[in-house]
Amino acid sequence: MPSFPLSIIVLAAGKGKRMRTGLPKVLHVLAGATLLERVVHTAEALQPNNIYVVAGNGAERVQKEMSHLNVEWVQQKEQLGTGHAVQQVLPHLQKNHQVLILYGDVPLISIQTLQALLEKTPKNALGLVVAELDDPKGFGRIIRNDVGNIVAIVEQKDATDEQLKIKEINTGIITVSAEHLYEWLPKLENNNQQKEYYLTDIIAMAVRDGCSVGGVFADCQEEVRGVNNLSELSMLERFYHRQKAYELMAQGVTIMDPNRFDMRGKLHVAPDVIVDINVIFEGEVSIGANTTIGPNCVLKNVKIGQNVKIEANSVIEGAIIEDQAVIGPFARIRPGTHVEKKAKVGNFVELKNVRLGEQSKIPHLSYIGDAIVGKHVNIGAGTITVNYDGVNKHQTIIEDTAFIGCDSQLIAPVTVGEGAYIAAGSTITQDAPPRQLTIARAKQCSIPDWKPKQKTDSLLLKSDEH
Ligand code: UD1
Ligand code: CA
Repeated sequence: MPSFPLSIIVLAAGKGKRMRTGLPKVLHVLAGATLLERVVHTAEALQPNNIYVVAGNGAERVQKEMSHLNVEWVQQKEQLGTGHAVQQVLPHLQKNHQVLILYGDVPLISIQTLQALLEKTPKNALGLVVAELDDPKGFGRIIRNDVGNIVAIVEQKDATDEQLKIKEINTGIITVSAEHLYEWLPKLENNNQQKEYYLTDIIAMAVRDGCSVGGVFADCQEEVRGVNNLSELSMLERFYHRQKAYELMAQGVTIMDPNRFDMRGKLHVAPDVIVDINVIFEGEVSIGANTTIGPNCVLKNVKIGQNVKIEANSVIEGAIIEDQAVIGPFARIRPGTHVEKKAKVGNFVELKNVRLGEQSKIPHLSYIGDAIVGKHVNIGAGTITVNYDGVNKHQTIIEDTAFIGCDSQLIAPVTVGEGAYIAAGSTITQDAPPRQLTIARAKQCSIPDWKPKQKTDSLLLKSDEH
């Protein structure tokens, strides 16, 4: 952590024209968080005294949708360049602060690189994060003198053919003292190709004033890549998920294909977990040892125990799944659900706000909502808890070892007693007593002399028209 007071400025006023969407650029989402959230969270990890976000294009919307961020908002009404953007923060900046400038559209910059930059830049010096790119097109080029010191940055549009061959680029991330910014920013001019006030012009000013300029190399290209269009966004997104997959693999988690693995939130996984292809993790997910997740599952805010089997195409949100449970294939588990040990939730079963007791089974085709189900209960195919009367939701209680026959409706509020049997096809409107068979359906009868209706000529004609 820095031993000096630190202010971080995040530039986020640019338009992002090339995104071609209606959304301000920094509100685009990368792996479950907006670009701006990612940069601000990285900034927070450095424990600065202040974080300023310079907003301009779509500022109102950005500020509204990102109002949960603990930052100070600064307006840049007209976007006259990166130097002009930083200038808008000057009235707020304390003179004795070190300043770190980040870009709102460079989402994967790492805490380590920024720490290295702050540590390696002496007080009163200027530090830059630089990178060597195979394809440096579009970036400002780092100009060094004969002894290898950085002396200037030249923008792509202002560069000579010779300068365009330079592969060392400016990532845009700069650290400098507030005092120097007060001195240099008012002197910026916009006599360049883009008629903008370039922040990068302060490098030449620093050199002229005898202030040393140092470069710190980024660890990888992706961390300094900006997002300018949707395909760049998708490339960084994929890079991010792949990195996370490799990190998990290093901890003994089997990820069947790191290119088909999406981590859009936080994931805590024990070793010996196997994750098949196309699984999406959102929010906070934790998974215990020896659990397997089948292909095409979506898991959001779920706590999963050990030795659990989640089979293909299951969607689970806001739930707790205890050890040795078996879920899916094609299960839908909605918020408020707690599946206890060794319970089974099978094919095409939807659960909402259910406590499902130990070793209870709902093997097929059921909707169980707002229910408390005891231990060793068996719920037959096609069972429905009728929990909604059009106005209010009501609870169903099914006690231990009860057996619900197929295609039954339990009209809530209702209780099925311990060890009760419900005959298949029943519509249960009153509590079913324990250990008795309850049948609630019309008695079957057959009509021996029944004949199907004969169609009259005119009806036959009509049906022919169809
Ligand atoms: C800038 C750098 C370039 C560097 C590149 C790295 C300058 C002059 N050039 O170029 O050397 O290689 O980034 O990606 O600094 N912004 C504002 N207000 C403005 C203009 C920009 O807030 O008036 C913000 C943008 O939202 C963006 C960042 O500043 O987050 C960079 O702006 P952009 O226009 O993308 O700069 P580049 O031309 O790419
Ligand atoms: Ca850019």
